[in-house]
Amino acid sequence: MKIIKTLKELRSYRNEVSGSVGLVPTMGALHEGHLSLVKKSFTDNNKTIVSIFVNPAQFAPHEDFDSYPRHFEDDCKQLERLNVDAVWAPSVSEMYPKDFQTAVRVSGISEVLEGEFRPHFFEGVTTIVNKLFMQVQPTRAYFGEKVFQQLQVIQKMVKDLNISVHVIGCKIIRDAEGLALSSRNAYLSDDDIQVARQLNVILKQASALVKERGIQEVELILKDAIITAGFTKVDYVTLRNAETLRPISSLQNCDDVRILVAAYLGPVRLIDNIGL
Ligand code: PAF
Repeated sequence: MKIIKTLKELRSYRNEVSGSVGLVPTMGALHEGHLSLVKKSFTDNNKTIVSIFVNPAQFAPHEDFDSYPRHFEDDCKQLERLNVDAVWAPSVSEMYPKDFQTAVRVSGISEVLEGEFRPHFFEGVTTIVNKLFMQVQPTRAYFGEKVFQQLQVIQKMVKDLNISVHVIGCKIIRDAEGLALSSRNAYLSDDDIQVARQLNVILKQASALVKERGIQEVELILKDAIITAGFTKVDYVTLRNAETLRPISSLQNCDDVRILVAAYLGPVRLIDNIGL
């Protein structure tokens, strides 16, 4: 497996590679969720490149950029075992040289939900994902549905900018008790994990409830249930049109509904979602 750290090396590697290329963009601290994206890329492409880059532009100053888990050696071992072709692991200065002045912003869909609570986040994501697409020139790129809004924002960016990359969304990988895998789960204590596991159970109840109680009442019931389970704060728990992420007034008006949640356990913010 080739570990590539500079753009110069990446360009020469990319020039040598023929056939389809799958890109799995990550910030490292890999878990089974990431590995499932890699495995999907293997089935679809001739070559698979995994990027590992903790992107400072998607963290606000008060967020966890400095403490974000970094396990580069272990990540590479896992990827090598799977037979990944190359890892693209640039430094911050390689990605953002001193005079860097450009940003890619998707309005609308990136201004709701996560966009309201983490206003810096999507511009950081779309800028870096765009750079990764330009640098790696993949045929396909793989993103988990765990950050469902990110997947939709990237789809929109690709469509609006006519980027010739197929964006493939892959289902959330959960532990045996339903907790969505996330690199940030490493911040949770054993007790927190028990509470965190309730999130998925609570979301699942919504599907049954919504037909009898209606959307607005179900959103309130879910919020109460999340706080009762032991979460300390709920940023949002809401039923949305899965494609546009706009609120829906009735189930009749929308075939594809997604329930999305962001809630805190102390300082740790968890997100999850399910299809209705
Ligand atoms: O989902 C992530 O890990 C990141 O947001 C991504 C897509 C790798 C961009 O930094």
